[in-house]
Amino acid sequence: MARDPFTVVQLSDLHLNPKVQRSIDCLSHLRQRVGAIGPDLMVVTGDVTNDGFRDTDSFAWARHELERFGVPMHVVPGNHDVGAAAVLNRLITHDPSGDVRKEHVDAWLDVYEADRFAVQHGRWTLIGLNSQIMGAGLIDAERRQLEWLDRKISAMQVADQNVAVFMHTLPYMRSPDEQIDDMSAYWSIPPSALQVLMQRLQNVNLRLFATGHVHWYASFLRDPVQHVWCPSMTMAIDDPKFPRGGDKIGFVLHTFEDETMSHQLVEVDIETGETVLFHRKSLDIPGRGTLAFANLALDFTGTLSRDGMLLPGVAPRLIELAKQMRITVMTADTFGKVDDALADLPVEVHIVKTGQDKARMLADLNPQVTVAIGNGRNDVAMVQAAVLGIAVCGPEGMAGELIRVADVVCRDILEALDLLVHRLRIKATLRD
Ligand SMILES: [Fe+2]
Repeated sequence: MARDPFTVVQLSDLHLNPKVQRSIDCLSHLRQRVGAIGPDLMVVTGDVTNDGFRDTDSFAWARHELERFGVPMHVVPGNHDVGAAAVLNRLITHDPSGDVRKEHVDAWLDVYEADRFAVQHGRWTLIGLNSQIMGAGLIDAERRQLEWLDRKISAMQVADQNVAVFMHTLPYMRSPDEQIDDMSAYWSIPPSALQVLMQRLQNVNLRLFATGHVHWYASFLRDPVQHVWCPSMTMAIDDPKFPRGGDKIGFVLHTFEDETMSHQLVEVDIETGETVLFHRKSLDIPGRGTLAFANLALDFTGTLSRDGMLLPGVAPRLIELAKQMRITVMTADTFGKVDDALADLPVEVHIVKTGQDKARMLADLNPQVTVAIGNGRNDVAMVQAAVLGIAVCGPEGMAGELIRVADVVCRDILEALDLLVHRLRIKATLRD
């Protein structure tokens, strides 16, 4: 039996504050855009307010403003509404007041009445969860949510019900068994909580995780689950572990119909904050100002490799650097070995033909926050354009022309990569 498609607008990370003009503008813009779509449901996946737990009046104001859209709505909280698990919060701040607490959740419930929801339409059940209490030590609240989830699941005709989960924090970034041992762990629920959640969901047709929190748009399939990261309406946050190209402002429109589901990103054009570079170190260089390194663009042949084989010592340095920079390797792949050589390394590979292709790629990455390293003549344009251009003398030599455009010349690639770890060396080399 065919049913009408069920449309859901997912908003996330609005960070609404009644005292901020940008919030008022954001709401009036959204009211128009969402009104024009006329979805069946609106789901807000957290960070509705900007630190609502410190100023709970903003909960009521935000709820009232969102209700004026005239669309049925469910809202689940985010870290800026009720706080985050201490283990996550302390990764980025020493301020314990941002830890999730029972009082914060109670204040939320006073206004929003619920911090989870379930909606059924045809073959689909949409489940909204409070990710902030997962693995956070609020034992009673977490237990009640899990028992509620169990009841919802056992009430489903499991055999043909598809499940879409909406929550603020990611279940995981790339794969359920990943181990993130740095600040980027902040984006996902604690691994112990993920285990508990996946156990609960293992007997349903889990098809979708629709999340917020990261302020970055992404869509990818971890078979059989589609992951959709809803962007923020306030600003983008660029973590080197996020897939490239998600620095969007807007929301997501999901459509559920019989067995199928699809989504589209709806970009909006409003005044927002600048993209925040997360987990990146900047460097003050007297005479050149503050350099921020978000990306590393690398030539492969002759720079990272000899005869197509990765040079010894390169792999561990790339793994370390990938925690701080998104690494793009560009190559004409003269020896046809790049895929093998870079397999399992946290880098993106782009096959390019000419130096112009490399320069175009660099323009795409944003040269103002990109370091480029190369050794050949076809690296000249990208090394010149990058905020920090490094020429290396690889085992296949260095094009003389490169020396004239590079900021720094290194004797080999290991020295060059180490400069990016020990940044004071760059400062010493480049200061006035
Ligand atoms: Fe947020």
